[in-house]
Amino acid sequence: MLSEAEIREIEGEAKPYASRKVACIGALKVVQKHRGWVSDEALRDLADHLGMTPDELDGVATFYSLIYRRPVGRHVILVCDGLSCYNVGYEDLLGYLSKRLGIGFGGTTADGRFTLLPVACIGVCESAPALIIDEDVHGRLEPPEKVEEILKRYE
Ligand code: FES
Repeated sequence: MLSEAEIREIEGEAKPYASRKVACIGALKVVQKHRGWVSDEALRDLADHLGMTPDELDGVATFYSLIYRRPVGRHVILVCDGLSCYNVGYEDLLGYLSKRLGIGFGGTTADGRFTLLPVACIGVCESAPALIIDEDVHGRLEPPEKVEEILKRYE
């Protein structure tokens, strides 16, 4: 069941549009903000609220890599695997993070602190290699040890 706060925020997302369906991405982000991820149950409740079928909404949710359909850690690290980053240290950065955290893509650390995921170009190619943690963009991560100071900010 959607909470009152979620419904209020979803209605805010849908306000400019004639149909709630148009705001489905924003609505998914609202649910994710409140719950950390979008479970099957939440997806069904949200689809019902938006006047969509669960399959329609799931199609949108799974298309957007920033909507999480499985539980994630307290902080999500999205490592850019776009061409510029790939050419300037992506593999070293990913290797360093994987070793440091003990997880690969799709994994979550045992303490639930970090989840590691890939993401397409995040638009800061001039600062490659780059990644996003939660909503924050971090670039120029060469050599990869530079990420250590950044990780400390996310407990
Ligand atoms: S390829 Fe990584 S920011 Fe563009």
